[in-house]
Order: sequence, then structure tokens, then C-alpha cells
Amino acid sequence: MAMRFDGKVLLTTGGGSGLAAAVARRFASEGGRVAVLDLDGARATAVAAELKGSLGLAVDVASEDGVRDAVATVHREMGRIDCVFNAAGHADFGPIETWTLERWNRMMGVHVGGTFLVCKYVLPIMRSQGGGSIVNVASIAAMVAQPNNSPYGAAKGAIVGFSRQLALEAAPLVRVNVVAPGRIRTGMTVPLWQQRGGGNLEAGVSQAAVLNMLKRVGEPDDIAGPVCFLFSDDAAFMTGTTLVPDGGETAV
Ligand SMILES: NC(=O)c1ccc[n+]([C@@H]2O[C@H](COP(=O)([O-])OP(=O)(O)OC[C@H]3O[C@@H](n4cnc5c(N)ncnc54)[C@H](O)[C@@H]3O)[C@@H](O)[C@H]2O)c1
Repeated sequence: MAMRFDGKVLLTTGGGSGLAAAVARRFASEGGRVAVLDLDGARATAVAAELKGSLGLAVDVASEDGVRDAVATVHREMGRIDCVFNAAGHADFGPIETWTLERWNRMMGVHVGGTFLVCKYVLPIMRSQGGGSIVNVASIAAMVAQPNNSPYGAAKGAIVGFSRQLALEAAPLVRVNVVAPGRIRTGMTVPLWQQRGGGNLEAGVSQAAVLNMLKRVGEPDDIAGPVCFLFSDDAAFMTGTTLVPDGGETAV
């Protein structure tokens, strides 16, 4: 039986963990091969090793040389790049007076700069192949206020604006969309929930779960579905838009 991603190659950043690892597994389970890029090369290699024909690479997405070389390696080794998931990122919170410019620049450099760099280097490849689909990760923090979270919200808001503009520039061959998840159980959120629950993870999870209509936190597969939909031909008429899988949190 033909599968949605037969013959296709996905490049994902942040692929050693969380949302991007789930997207990599879903993409591979539907016939595709995946280049798993992560700051943590061992984690990238471990995820790639589970997936037939896939490749793991260590890269810091905030480094232009690193991203340029990694994209070239993926193109050379895997022959093509059809889909991209820009998910590398970190959480960092705190009152604005405690932020240094260096910390702010790292937030912007990884989330916004990393997304920009990967798009810059994959777009010519996708155009030369005749098409492609890029999904960039924002967050509900781009849409609603959250305590002590303004640098992260600024970075995620910039990703929404960048993606909308890039969609126009990349059209009609390449589609560019955004996924803005709510609260999902990953390596990023579990330590926060543990802390907020006073050391009790389930207490922290419950505090996060009550904030949405469905009264649970999301799991990485709740994001893998929408992202793979955006990669697929079912989303062939969608570009420049944002999907918000958040259990209804931003609708109330
Ligand atoms: N989990 C959530 O609730 C949630 C909600 C909204 C948005 N997001 C966003 O989703 C993305 C993925 O986060 P996650 O929840 O899967 O977290 P995660 O910590 O499980 O995974 C993030 C991965 O990114 C990698 N990474 C960090 N900095 C990097 C860099 N400079 N270069 C390359 N790789 C780097 C980490 O090593 C890690 O493997 C992030 O952009 C995050 O902001 C997460």
C-alpha cells in the first residue's frame, strides 16, 4: 500500500527529543526517511538509528556554518529534502530585569535565527526539486500572555511573522506554515511541571491541564499528526497559516 511519505526526506531540528522526535517517527512510519539534527548529537543519532534509512547529525542551529554544512550533508547523503520541521529550542523564563542581553540574544539566535538559517539553506534545494513543505514551531506564547515569558513570546511571535512573509516569497513551489502548540509533555516541560508541582510531576501536570478545554496536557503525538498533515498533499492549498493544537487553551 502506498504511504504518504514514500520516497520523501524530512530534515528536522531538535529531533533528538520531544515534538520533533515524534514527528520524525510518524514521518518514517509513513514511508519517509529523516535527517535528525540536534545540539545533542548522541540523542540525534539514537532517534535516527530507530528509523530506516535515516541520519543523525549534531548541529547548533544558531551557527550559520553549522546549519549550512548540515543541510549540505543531508542533501548529499539523502539525495533530496522535501519537508522541514524547525523545532530546535529551549525554555527560559524569568522577570525581565533578570535577563541579560546575552541570554535574550541566545533565545532569539536559537529560535528565530535557527529557523531563518535552516529556511535560507533548504529553500534553494526545495525549489530546484520543484517543491517542498516547511513547518516552523511557534507556541501559544506568541498569542497569549504568560507570566515572566516575554523573551520566549517575542521569539515565537517573530517565527509567526517570519513564516507568513516567507510563505509569500517561497510560493508557489514551497509551502511554509506554523504550528503553535499548547502545553505538551516533553523534555522541555517535564522539569518545569515538576518544579511547579513542588517536586510532584503529576501535580504540575494537573495545573497545566486545567488551563485548556480538554483538561489534559498534550502528548508529542498530538503535534506529530497536525505537522505531518501540513507536510502532506492533504494540505496542498495551505500556506502562510498557523495551526494551533492547544486543547482549546487560546479559545477561552
Ligand atoms: N513542549 C511544549 O509544550 C511546547 C509548546 C510550544 C512550543 N514548543 C516548542 O517546540 C519545540 C520543541 O520543543 P520540545 O517541547 O520538543 O522540547 P525538547 O526539549 O524535548 O526538545 C528540544 C530539542 O531541541 C534541541 N535543541 C535545543 N537548542 C538547540 C540548538 N541550538 N540547536 C539544535 N538543537 C537544539 C534540544 O537538544 C532538544 O533535543 C521548541 O521550539 C519549543 O519552544 C514546545
